[in-house]
Amino acid sequence: MLHLPKPALDGTMSLEESLRYRRSVRDFTPEPLSPQEISSILWAAQGVTDDANYRTAPSAGARYPIKLHVATQDGLFAYANHNHTLTRLNPVDVRPMIVETALGQKFIGDAGLVVILSANLAESIQLHGEKAMRYIYLEAGHIAQNIHLEAASLGLASSPVAAFDEASLQAVLGFPEAWVPIYVIPVGHPTHPRPKPALSRQLDVCYQSPL
Ligand SMILES: Cc1cc2nc3c(=O)[nH]c(=O)nc-3n(C[C@H](O)[C@H](O)[C@H](O)COP(=O)(O)O)c2cc1C
Repeated sequence: MLHLPKPALDGTMSLEESLRYRRSVRDFTPEPLSPQEISSILWAAQGVTDDANYRTAPSAGARYPIKLHVATQDGLFAYANHNHTLTRLNPVDVRPMIVETALGQKFIGDAGLVVILSANLAESIQLHGEKAMRYIYLEAGHIAQNIHLEAASLGLASSPVAAFDEASLQAVLGFPEAWVPIYVIPVGHPTHPRPKPALSRQLDVCYQSPL
């Protein structure tokens, strides 16, 4: 089990700047993410934020059905948010295999960190009935946006990926039948880092009068 460093909570980019800076970027250098960067990304996704074990992202009934896995050059890991650890499930670098399940979208394999969101559909359906799928997709969206904004804030690049074959990806990850992959989010060092945005530039064009 790998204990991640404490997430850094003193980023220098404001929320508004992260929102302004976020873009789906699909060009990564081969440089791996540091443990500190992985820590911050996973904390933003599902970190515990109070004594009642509530998290950074909202969840219907606080049931938190979405699990996180990460694929790096060192293998496939499961994330446990309660103690902020990674447990290695497979020592093989599965990123090239993930690419194969995702219409050959090569940039996924270039990213230092590939975060996979998944859920146990059968359990969720038992809990929430016909609303289960809607809740899961909505919750995945909350988590994904947290990842993208944190990546932007750290000067990293990310892109959402949902164009993949569910069954093939499930097999690559070694998930049992009930565990369904929902979202794949490659995060890496951008090949062409962009300058931090000036908040007002360009926005002036869209928003000319005071709100
Ligand atoms: C549900 C969803 C699925 C997506 N799937 C993919 C994908 O499989 N591959 C990809 O390159 N981009 C994917 N995208 C990213 C979109 O192409 C991107 O968000 C869009 O072009 C707008 O650009 P922006 O994210 O930079 O604002 C996906 C986005 C969403 C919200």
